[in-house]
Amino acid sequence: MTVTREANAAIVERAKRLFGEIVEEQLSRIQRLKEANASGTPLNHALERPIVVGFVGGDGIGPYIIKEAERVLQFLLDDKLSTGEVIFREIEGLTIERRAKLMQSVPEDVMDAIKRCHVILKGPTTTPKAGDPYPNLESANVTLRRELDLFANVRPVKIPEEGIDWVFFRENTEGAYALGSRGINITEDLAIDFKVTTTIGAERIIRMAFEYAKRNGINRVTVVTKANIIKATDGKFLKEAERVARDYHDVVWDHWFVDIFAAKLLDANRRRDFRVIVLPNLYGDIITDEAAELQGGVGTAGSANIGDRYAMFEAVHGSALRMVEEGRAIYANPTSILRAAAMLLRHIGFMAEAQSLDTALDVCTKQYTITGRSDGLTCTAFTDHLLETIKNEKQE
Ligand code: IPM
Ligand code: MG
Repeated sequence: MTVTREANAAIVERAKRLFGEIVEEQLSRIQRLKEANASGTPLNHALERPIVVGFVGGDGIGPYIIKEAERVLQFLLDDKLSTGEVIFREIEGLTIERRAKLMQSVPEDVMDAIKRCHVILKGPTTTPKAGDPYPNLESANVTLRRELDLFANVRPVKIPEEGIDWVFFRENTEGAYALGSRGINITEDLAIDFKVTTTIGAERIIRMAFEYAKRNGINRVTVVTKANIIKATDGKFLKEAERVARDYHDVVWDHWFVDIFAAKLLDANRRRDFRVIVLPNLYGDIITDEAAELQGGVGTAGSANIGDRYAMFEAVHGSALRMVEEGRAIYANPTSILRAAAMLLRHIGFMAEAQSLDTALDVCTKQYTITGRSDGLTCTAFTDHLLETIKNEKQE
């Protein structure tokens, strides 16, 4: 009995110490965020010159789709590249083999190179999980989002024939993800994870969603949580929403629990009423995959990770290693990364180019079929058609 009590006391002490470290880290993080907030206005990417665009291939099908996206951006920004207004940089070395060898989820040289760009177009990166042949490293995405403080994950989903035009604002640096690889295996029988919400973190993403609604004349913001059950962190997120909403008298807002919200996205009579949706990290991850699937698959949606200083644009889908193993990488669908490329163009102020890319994508995704296999187009052939379509649009 005494032995057990003593053993437990040691276990509790270790848990307290580890939890204490986490609390200390988060308190200093809040401090840093407050200082950054006080010390400057966000960078306006549309005004930066020259603007440096970095391309990061990533793993699996990543390099295949990034290569095509770079080709498209090269074409659209041709004049700006020749005047030096825009500069392209290719960043090598963010591969799972290299990350595993260096035991770094994002190798330092890659992180430095990324920090020297204004915006990044990034291919998917493989995230190891326990049991995989690689060490159980943190996801490169999670590391990048945290280190570059890319607090907003913006994901638009459109189904025009149904009148659906959703924009999701997923919190990207907190929630269940902030400490996703910092959970504690207390004993063999007990594992505990942590979830974080800070006032500053919740406020900035909620405010971004309301600002977006206001700027675009959209009269509805939907906040999604599970605040009835996850009372501290989701409760705080909801409380911040109530507070921020008071600054936007013209925007109507409502709150949904994530389970029923996920269900209502499948209700064709209700779902078109949603417009701007703001939600904590994990719910945002899940719901945006569901939404993208309704639009035609996760391969069809683009994704922007936005912070005050940096911005990273990527596909919603993963690295699809299996396609490479089966020799099918050349058939990878570049639509998602190209939608992300259009978001990148918009972010740096090239609205006409972004529009022309989106329009050509609308046309080509209807006209041509990519199946991921040899019965569909290759990634390169699809992009060739897309470039032709853009050229024709220009001539008209
Ligand atoms: C996404 C992905 C990532 C996430 C993974 C790759 C870490 O699923 O961007 O939605 O869960 O955020
Ligand atoms: Mg996801």
